[in-house]
Amino acid sequence: MVERFDLLLTDCRLATMVEGGVPYGAIEDGAILVRDGRIAWVGARTDLPDHEAVETRRLDGRWVTPGLIDCHTHLVFGGNRSHEFERRLGGATYEQIAREGGGIISTMAATRSASEDALVASALVRLRGLTATGVTTVEIKSGYGLDAENELKMLRAARRVGVEGGVRVSTSFLGLHALPPEHRESREAYLDLMIDEVLPAAHAEGLVDAVDAYCEPIAFTADEVARLFAEARSLDLPVKLHADQLSDGGGGALAAAHGALSADHVEHVDEAGVIAMARAGTVAVLLPGAWLMLRETKLPPIDLFRRHGVRMAVATDCNPGTSPVASMTAALNLACVQFRLTPEEALAGATRHAAAALGLSHQIGTLEAGKAADLVAWDVERPAELCYWLGAQLVQGLWVAGKLL
Ligand code: NIG
Ligand code: FE
Repeated sequence: MVERFDLLLTDCRLATMVEGGVPYGAIEDGAILVRDGRIAWVGARTDLPDHEAVETRRLDGRWVTPGLIDCHTHLVFGGNRSHEFERRLGGATYEQIAREGGGIISTMAATRSASEDALVASALVRLRGLTATGVTTVEIKSGYGLDAENELKMLRAARRVGVEGGVRVSTSFLGLHALPPEHRESREAYLDLMIDEVLPAAHAEGLVDAVDAYCEPIAFTADEVARLFAEARSLDLPVKLHADQLSDGGGGALAAAHGALSADHVEHVDEAGVIAMARAGTVAVLLPGAWLMLRETKLPPIDLFRRHGVRMAVATDCNPGTSPVASMTAALNLACVQFRLTPEEALAGATRHAAAALGLSHQIGTLEAGKAADLVAWDVERPAELCYWLGAQLVQGLWVAGKLL
């Protein structure tokens, strides 16, 4: 009996990104059959099973990759911080501006005064930059509300961005991003509020896929983060951490000790932290946009990650302060040029390893039967071109769960 499928992509080259075989898991002259939003079959065209497809797309030899995954963003926020950008170009540092009450706190004010609708609308504009560069899944954090009402508002907005933007969204609760001014004299009360009230309330509303925190001298301590992570565990939520971005605060080891999905930034992580991450299977999420914008000089220890077998993901960190980057291919380029990843490593970082950083390896990140039919067809001759161009429009077609966006 001939099997029926919803979609056949054929006459294409596949970068399956499946680990272990040929570079990029490439299949020259491949084909993909899609049914019910999933990849039903993928392989060499000559091996295609007997089929009937509702729709057939011939891709004239174009490359197809898994939909890219931007596993670290702050896509939902009010206003922007171009005034601080000008100050930083004039010599002020990120920490200095933060300590003066600017930085995250200035975005907090703009986010609090924005309606949920306005937050969705502005995030959708930035999302267009991501989907235009191949993104089908985006992680979005809270962390600019910093009170109950506004943290929930941000997370609801993030969920709506997924529905209205037609992509998968994975949310992270980042209540411990900065101490809001009204709690300057009552740090403990803020921790109680976020950990004991806001996180459980957001979780009860189905708004939280993971719990994140900013562990840094200008933000929260390891002990405070540990308290948050204990609550996350009791709610059965995975954790991740902004770790060792501006200094070595043992963030990589802390994340690993809590079995974190990922430790993000990690420019300053030391070898002991890297080894702990390797043992725990914690992914290193590299954010070269923030590194560029802050004019950092300390590179993340890429060779240590390689040597100890820590998987590396690459993300935009799209946010109004440190990384006004709304292009996934720009992040890939920067990961190669600044951090010296190979194009294959960078692309794994935006697919297979980014899926791991979100705990979604079973669902997305490679072209394999059973996974979601999140697919991108690219106007490139080789996969490395996805990292080579800076700012080119290369997407020829993008499908989320088998539907053309
Ligand atoms: O990932 N490091 C903390 N959080 C963001 C910056 C947020 C901001 O400056 O608004 C980051 O770099
Ligand atoms: Fe971030």
